[in-house]
Amino acid sequence: MSRHRRRVIYLLGFMGSGKSTVGKLLANVLGWPLIDLDTVIEAGQGLTIREIFENSGEPFFRQIERAALTEASKAEPAVIALGGGTFAQPPNVDLIRESGGTTVWLDCPPQILRARCQGLQNRPLFRDEQSFTQLLSERIPYYCLADFRISTEGRKPEELVEQILSLQVF
Ligand code: S3P
Repeated sequence: MSRHRRRVIYLLGFMGSGKSTVGKLLANVLGWPLIDLDTVIEAGQGLTIREIFENSGEPFFRQIERAALTEASKAEPAVIALGGGTFAQPPNVDLIRESGGTTVWLDCPPQILRARCQGLQNRPLFRDEQSFTQLLSERIPYYCLADFRISTEGRKPEELVEQILSLQVF
């Protein structure tokens, strides 16, 4: 089936994989708006992600994340930087795939993800070594469903943007 590809790029990957950084650069080069889902959620709630988790728990966060995603998926053109767990919720995977955009997984080596997550304050789901390893292994099968996988190992954000621009989707 040949389907029109909407001018929407979804960036996905684990916490610390560079979705927001690459998203900003990519949106700049394309001249498309950037929708950073976590930023949209924080602005909508007037709270940080950590506060939302602390006050209301993960199920509530997933509900508002879903609502933010539903809204974001209507935009075109757009670069959409997802949260690390957005593409690991089956209904979100369906919504994103049905939306007709292109999904790009920023695949980053676990040791780099771990080091970056340790330095981040606003990541309530990063607790310890064991939960990190488990969460990552649960999510990889979902991330593998992306249209494209880009290895970020040893590469600057600018190089990743170049690679995304070279994909046959523009
Ligand atoms: C989450 C990742 C975070 C944020 C929230 C939940 C996750 O986004 O959405 O803390 O489930 O992995 P980043 O990937 O931008 O850190």
